[in-house]
Amino acid sequence: MPKRRDILAIVLIVLPWTLLITVWHQGAINPLLAARKDDRHESRRDSRNTFTLKKPCSSENNKDIVEVVHTEYVYSRPPPWSDVLPTLHVVTPTYSRPVQKAELTRLANTFLHVPNLHWILVEDSPRRTPLVTRLLRETSQNYTHLNVETPRNYKLRGDTRDPRIPRGTMQRNLALRWLRETFSSNNRHSQPGIVYFADDDNTYSLELFEEMRSTRKVSVWPVAFVGGLRYESPKVNTLGKVYGWKTVFDPHRPFAIDMAGFAVNLHLILFKPQAYFKLRGVKGGYQESSLLRELVTLNDLEPKAANCTKVLVWHTRTEKPVLVNEGEKGFTDSNVEI
Ligand code: UGA
Ligand code: MN
Repeated sequence: MPKRRDILAIVLIVLPWTLLITVWHQGAINPLLAARKDDRHESRRDSRNTFTLKKPCSSENNKDIVEVVHTEYVYSRPPPWSDVLPTLHVVTPTYSRPVQKAELTRLANTFLHVPNLHWILVEDSPRRTPLVTRLLRETSQNYTHLNVETPRNYKLRGDTRDPRIPRGTMQRNLALRWLRETFSSNNRHSQPGIVYFADDDNTYSLELFEEMRSTRKVSVWPVAFVGGLRYESPKVNTLGKVYGWKTVFDPHRPFAIDMAGFAVNLHLILFKPQAYFKLRGVKGGYQESSLLRELVTLNDLEPKAANCTKVLVWHTRTEKPVLVNEGEKGFTDSNVEI
């Protein structure tokens, strides 16, 4: 057993050295950190989004003012087009209502951060409206502006939650037709692209767009605040294969997934020209299945977002309160961050 005196002696020897080394280390690191900070500022100043004009001020009266620094911001959004990245064709049905401009502005602000994004905005209206036309022109977005009006007998009647009335279906189908007509089978191989159906009221993380960019056939991921749950998700086994659906609302649907939860490779859309969303005789929640069953089987699905363990898109909740008790009904993933 070392005596107390010995321990004290060791502490007295070690302590000054520790202090000395710490002080010396800080001295060596601080200039490095300062240099890094300067670099960062410098590169920001040099970036193509921003520039600083330094105008020498030669006026006699202002001799004591050495220079006027005039900063202008030039926004380079969207990012420069890349020849190597597949294009993301993002299809959004939209209709006139008080929050329409706010929703589309939010969406445009998100999309402007995504490289090679082509926004296909389809208005549910008899003609293209001045509001949407102006909004698109002003965003400097790569876009295609289409319109088709949903016939009155399909429109919402009184009960706005009637599940038999599909919303945005004719608009998405028009976009599919436009894609097939534009990227005809001849130049199929020169046009790598992904098709994603992004409703105008949801929230999309930027990461989601990079996840879907590598879609070979159909990729899938979780969607938050849908079907009465915190999130719905494809079930993925240890081999990374989708084998079912974590949903409470009709889990026996062939593809129990929200519109925001999948993306399709453009080649597949071109290769299966008969695949459309069904307008008639489709039960609530079956719209997505009506297209997907024409394109793929469960076995073809490619899980994204860390094997469907991350939530990267949030549905706008329009239905009954979201369940939080995921311990029930086999839902044990309450640790998933939303
Ligand atoms: C849910 C799904 O998330 C939708 O993708 C699906 O189309 C819909 O159910 C359905 O099966 O009908 P939900 O939030 O209930 O969506 O629907 P909305 O967000 O009201 O509408 C979906 C999209 O269609 C939106 O982009 C909306 O602007 C558009 N829409 C809605 C129209 O173009 N016309 C309308 O009359 C209503
Ligand atoms: Mn919605």
